[in-house]
Amino acid sequence: MEKLQAERCRRVVLVAYPLQGHLNPLLDLANILHSRGFSITIVHTKFNFPDPANHPDFQFVPISDGISSWDVSPSNLVRLASAINTNCREPFRECLSQMMQQQQEEKQHDQVVCIIYDFLMHFAETVANQMSLPSIIFRTSNAAALLALCKLPRLKAEGFNCLQDSTSNELVPGLHPLRFKDLPTASMGNLENLLQLVAVVCNIRTSSAIIQNTMDCLEYSSLRQLQEHYSVPLFTLGPLHKMALAKPINLVSKDDNTCIEWLEKKAPNSVIYVSLGSIARMDQNELTEMAWGLANSDQPFLWVIRPGLGGGSDAHLPEGFQELTGNRGCIVKWAPQKDVLAHPAVGGFWSHCGWNSTLESISEGVPMICKPYFVDQTVNARYLTHEWGIGIELDEVVQRTNVAKAIRRILVEEEGSRMRQKVIALKEQIKHCIKEGGSSYNSLNELVQFISSL
Ligand code: UDX
Repeated sequence: MEKLQAERCRRVVLVAYPLQGHLNPLLDLANILHSRGFSITIVHTKFNFPDPANHPDFQFVPISDGISSWDVSPSNLVRLASAINTNCREPFRECLSQMMQQQQEEKQHDQVVCIIYDFLMHFAETVANQMSLPSIIFRTSNAAALLALCKLPRLKAEGFNCLQDSTSNELVPGLHPLRFKDLPTASMGNLENLLQLVAVVCNIRTSSAIIQNTMDCLEYSSLRQLQEHYSVPLFTLGPLHKMALAKPINLVSKDDNTCIEWLEKKAPNSVIYVSLGSIARMDQNELTEMAWGLANSDQPFLWVIRPGLGGGSDAHLPEGFQELTGNRGCIVKWAPQKDVLAHPAVGGFWSHCGWNSTLESISEGVPMICKPYFVDQTVNARYLTHEWGIGIELDEVVQRTNVAKAIRRILVEEEGSRMRQKVIALKEQIKHCIKEGGSSYNSLNELVQFISSL
């Protein structure tokens, strides 16, 4: 008890990046550290921020970001990161100065022991260093995608001009099993701007350690390569959502729980769950093909059509689609995804392969249909289909016949059963990773000791 009280005086400041796929893992990490006795401050932008009322144990500190609204589309993501890093640096410095002053003036005040920042909020490292505070990088995506990002400058220097060629099936030297078209450069706008961002996020500068939301059992080789690349400790801590077991926040829309009632009436492994995360967009033609593919598959489906999925215009379903599919389909704006994937009726997940969705699907033993759109999604899809053997690759151009075929392959055919067995085996390995003695469990203990020693 005394020890816990002593540790309670140690405060960790976490700096969040304002996107759904980044905020939840950061809050999971915050919950885990809080359960280990640290006080928690979440520093966040005013744009896209979590509701503090849902996290009464944490202190939330907003900082000015100079952003009133932003079109969060893939081609805008590099610009968003750059704007935030330029605009937030000074407000963060002021906010940290205030905290440090309070710390000096009030004896009872928690002592800030380190800054943990989302890897896209790299201004935090500069500020922490100037104020002589240790910092730790928090990387929300997988090791393989980071490795690929970090190798981009070298590939460019070696004269490869196909770094953004979405048709090249040629394997990338040194990045097996990735093809050039799988590199995390797709739809990311100007390559030079992306490379500038890469130069910063792949460089640890003065940070003392890296935390990565992944597992040894899934990414052993990529993690070893990353660790060789860096001289600081790399804490492999995942899947964080399973270690924290906290309720996720939703920036997009409210959970529609009626889909769980709908799932209750479906047979085990009979439903395909379809969701493209919080940023990916599709045009009307793609949505129409997707709809007829789902209809023609003759299998039950749960489909998330979130606001903004169709880009500027609201996506609409083809005429006659809902009459034809009736109660075989359930369409919602936003699903409680973790509960959906854990439901026995769900037999497959058609996904954009965002890293959170990938981890959530593997953790529940659900095989995937992979239709990636941008950044790490193409890397994740390649690993799902060609390294772990638990996903089916959907063609670049979505066509109703291929969609219906892929759904039947995963839900009805032997191939799907084989993938299900493989992903269930991975699910079991993940359970071991987070149990006492497992790699993520041990890594968490080491991280807690490391922070305490700073
Ligand atoms: C983004 C990038 O797209 C992704 O590639 C990167 O790895 C992280 O940042 P996002 O597109 O939102 O993330 O995808 P993903 O990482 O899969 O995160 C989506 C989150 O939203 C998941 O945690 C998922 O459970 C949740 N979600 C999604 C819901 O809770 N309900 C839904 O209906 C859809």
